[in-house]
Amino acid sequence: MCGIIGINGATEVCFDLLSGLKRLEYRGYDSAGIVTLYNGSFSRQRAQGKLVNLERKLKECPVPGNVGIGHTRWATHGAPTELNAHPHQGKHVALVHNGIIENHAELRANLKDVPFESETDSEVIVHLLDAYLDKGCDWGEAIHALLQDLKGAYALAILFKEWPDVLVGVCSGSPLVVGYGTEERLFLASDVVAFAPSCAEATYLEEGDWVELNKGQVTIHPKKALSTVTRPRVPISRDQECITKEGYQHFMLKEIMEQPTVLDRALKMYRTQDCQITKKYDWKQISSLSIIACGTSFYAGCVAKYWFEKIGRLPVSVDIASEFRYRDPTLLPGSCALFISQSGETADTIAALRFVKQKGIPCIGLVNVPESSIAREADSILQTQAGIEVGVASTKAFIAQLAILSALVVEIASLRGTIPHEEKASLQQDLMAISGLVTETLKLSIPLQTLAPRFGQSKTALYLGRGSLYPIALEGALKLKEISYIHAEGYAAGELKHGPIALIDDKMLIIVLAPYNDLFEKILSNVQEVLARKGQVVFFTDTHGMRALGQLESQITVYILPAVSPFLVPIVYTIPMQLLAYYVATFKGADIDQPRNLAKSVTVE
Ligand code: G6P
Repeated sequence: MCGIIGINGATEVCFDLLSGLKRLEYRGYDSAGIVTLYNGSFSRQRAQGKLVNLERKLKECPVPGNVGIGHTRWATHGAPTELNAHPHQGKHVALVHNGIIENHAELRANLKDVPFESETDSEVIVHLLDAYLDKGCDWGEAIHALLQDLKGAYALAILFKEWPDVLVGVCSGSPLVVGYGTEERLFLASDVVAFAPSCAEATYLEEGDWVELNKGQVTIHPKKALSTVTRPRVPISRDQECITKEGYQHFMLKEIMEQPTVLDRALKMYRTQDCQITKKYDWKQISSLSIIACGTSFYAGCVAKYWFEKIGRLPVSVDIASEFRYRDPTLLPGSCALFISQSGETADTIAALRFVKQKGIPCIGLVNVPESSIAREADSILQTQAGIEVGVASTKAFIAQLAILSALVVEIASLRGTIPHEEKASLQQDLMAISGLVTETLKLSIPLQTLAPRFGQSKTALYLGRGSLYPIALEGALKLKEISYIHAEGYAAGELKHGPIALIDDKMLIIVLAPYNDLFEKILSNVQEVLARKGQVVFFTDTHGMRALGQLESQITVYILPAVSPFLVPIVYTIPMQLLAYYVATFKGADIDQPRNLAKSVTVE
């Protein structure tokens, strides 16, 4: 989490640092700050809360200088106060940090008599560098010594008072990228998006690299060494530039509404990229698939498990990355692993990927950011091509993940010989029709708004689904929690009797996902159980299901979705879950695109 940026050039950097931070705000928005170096002294401005607070301060009192660094924070160590806000500065250095210094307590204890200003783990780095410089090291020797001290994950941008031409970046376990602007202006940031409008090319630093940006020159050193290495300069995709709401009130609504286009693009993309995955591995010989992800991406993996097992007869395990990496999992020879991540930068997912790769198991990445760490480190890559997702609550990236996974399942099932040619053709036809069905489902946008006050006044909600809609119940509950702060839980409907039924009373809202299929009668029994305890049921079904409700219809609130093949119901039934969460949060006046305590990209474990 946290976004960092640095600029070194021949013109003032204050407001360009601010613009870069605006583009990085998705990484955290607890506090922000920038520092510049001018005439041998640091000028710093920091503010608690969102970037607008820093912007206000900078407009009143801009900081001078042609070199500077900035930070937008998602608090880990220390409350989100101004004192804990980055940049941190000492006698000789100022720096910004993304990540966690795991041995900060031990390092802090060794720095006796040093007055600490903040509660952060990051400030320890300032004082360590100051100490090395006081001992007579030059900046390079100080960095080299520092790197032997630090344990944990970090990306740093550092300024040295005594070397005003130098901007240093260090990256270990957290990404950092160098951007080449015009007139020898150089940039450093956690994500290329920060400087995309100003640069045509970038260099992605590799694990452990540290870099000096100095008067148009970029010098890269490999892990903990003083020698130099060359890393490629690659063009920056122009897509990275355009981040606008296109007239919508929030990015989240824009991203929900663009899902039909996203689906078409993802499926088209799949047709051009499937060969490397399906031809690279002998899918008949693959004995099992481990899917590893976090958050919403984990739920996409849970849906894929139903698909791979039912259609491809391929055993699948799905793990939350933070659990997987520490549970000493057994990985059988002949298995394959799939890492799903919108950002491609989630720390736990990256760590799990490295762990699996080390065991010699083939690793496939499914990512939305093609330049991300997971995209670069996986053996093969599938792209979702959902476009930049700004809303912290993931919507279109999830839909694109499902689209790619469904297409992949069909292809793999065919290669494994578990579906005949005609079935493959029919499933592919269903896929071709999916964006039209999503367009139709989006029309629920208006009727669902009327539900918002009912939910807005509620303290809790239960989402029920069966089969491949169970993960969608989990995702629906997550969306509501994330942006409206209403407690919600997703449950496999069959589990209702094993606990959650105890919660039901006349105030409890129960959202039921029930397309008309072989499990419909079973889920109807669950609805009866809820109604017998006076719970309020909101029922999502199709016209067939509506007819089958009979008298029950009068006791519940029903929304009708288009009929869809059982294979693709998860895609269609996700849409009302997103819309519902969005309208409830809007009704409550919540901060939709930047919900409290969350960040789009979780780059610390
Ligand atoms: C954060 C985001 C979620 C996202 C999760 C996993 O928690 O707020 O929206 O699903 O990280 O992120 P990834 O980029 O790996 O899909």
